[in-house]
Amino acid sequence: MRSTAALWRRPAELETRPALSSDLVADVAIVGGGITGLTCAVFLAEAGKRVVLLEGRQLGAGVTGRTTAHLTEAVDIRYHRLESTLGDEAARLVRAASRQAIETIASLSSKVECGFQRINGYLFTEHERQMSELDAELLAAERAGAQVSRSQVPLPFSVRAGICFEDQAQIEPLSYVLALSQRLRKTSAQIFEATPVLDVDGSSGAFRVSTERGHTVTADWVVMATHAYFGKLAVQLKLAQYRSYALAGPATATHAGLFWDMDDPYHYVRRAFVDAQPFVIVGGADHRTGVVPEDGADAPYRELEGYAARLGMKPTLRWSAQVVESADGLPLIGPIEQDGRLLIATGYGGNGMTFGTVAARLLADAVLGSNNPYASLFRPRRAHVLASATAVVSENAETAAHLVAGHLKPVSHAPLSELAPGDGRVVQHGKEKLAVYRDDAGELHRVSATCTHQGCQVAFNAVERSWDCPCHGSRFDVDGAVLNGPATQPLATVTDSSAT
Ligand code: FES
Repeated sequence: MRSTAALWRRPAELETRPALSSDLVADVAIVGGGITGLTCAVFLAEAGKRVVLLEGRQLGAGVTGRTTAHLTEAVDIRYHRLESTLGDEAARLVRAASRQAIETIASLSSKVECGFQRINGYLFTEHERQMSELDAELLAAERAGAQVSRSQVPLPFSVRAGICFEDQAQIEPLSYVLALSQRLRKTSAQIFEATPVLDVDGSSGAFRVSTERGHTVTADWVVMATHAYFGKLAVQLKLAQYRSYALAGPATATHAGLFWDMDDPYHYVRRAFVDAQPFVIVGGADHRTGVVPEDGADAPYRELEGYAARLGMKPTLRWSAQVVESADGLPLIGPIEQDGRLLIATGYGGNGMTFGTVAARLLADAVLGSNNPYASLFRPRRAHVLASATAVVSENAETAAHLVAGHLKPVSHAPLSELAPGDGRVVQHGKEKLAVYRDDAGELHRVSATCTHQGCQVAFNAVERSWDCPCHGSRFDVDGAVLNGPATQPLATVTDSSAT
């Protein structure tokens, strides 16, 4: 089963921006045209900064255009866990930051019809064993300042218990991209699409941002709004990347609301309207990027189809997206070095729209020299995330071990004539390993199987028809182009057509 496009339609008014065609100088270079980059550009350009934003594909074409766009204070990390690991004040700040993000999105989306709707959110369980955790979360969320209470859960199947977060929201992400883009039209910000960034060099004073076609942007500050930060290995050790899946289909009986169960991996549900027709979106079934599920590549979709059936929904669309989680469950936002001018924002988990907006405000404040109440909590060099990195390191080691056992050693020696259309495999060619894919027309696409980030071996993702790296989550299309960082360089092409 292949993935399709996400439910969201690209608004016709969202005009294409040109590619960078000359060298430029700016106060701030922003790398990435998703929610974080665009929102940060709005804040900085409206404050009078000269902003250049560089997007590798199209605005919103990355994770922003594939999110299910829950705008919520009910964070994935959970308030009771935050209280026990980082303390009550951290939980209070995360709640306040999430609320502020919802209100910021409400304000920035007010001039364009973005499907912004205030609705309640329900955290629920179907299992007695999760009751104590649900109760703990209710009390901790209350202490953090959320308007939350025990509640019935308006789903078409019965649940054990639930709590309701009042006044949450949802939005259509690509319409919101349009709203931000139109707002930026009224500023001096320069926005470029189809301009992949290959390198950021700050070794000689101002930063030099190099792009694929050779043009550069020289800037005093750089904001890396790329979802997955490319660069220092030390940062990668605090992060893990996951694929998260979603299904959507028309539904007759739908309820307004955001719904999250407490399973691991969890399921989430929301409603959306397409041409005034109600659709239900079901998401979840996450797994580590680059690790093929034991039950097959399409197992996550099959699992979600079972869940969708309980909601009376027959899926017509299916897609997946990349989720970046940090070692301690909070995003990494701020200067990568103490008081530095290279700013990063990553590790949003499943709260990308809100944490992306929090990041945009925080990074803009860093550039503008303004105080931000969340800067200390989310700083990338915080002590707690450094300590927690051991968990991610050990998970990475587990992944590597799994790969050695299941994917690395047994490169295929079967003849490529047996490779079916739509399938891919890693094969040995002399001393090299090649990633070989056969397209629907029967043509073979050969690229190096060595990830250009740190040299791990990629694995074929049959539902996305992509090459995914298990080490830090980079993804590449069948011709080697980068789909998700931290890699910035494509997989090497193989010109020898006789290879294998
Ligand atoms: Fe780091 Fe592939 S993503 S080695």
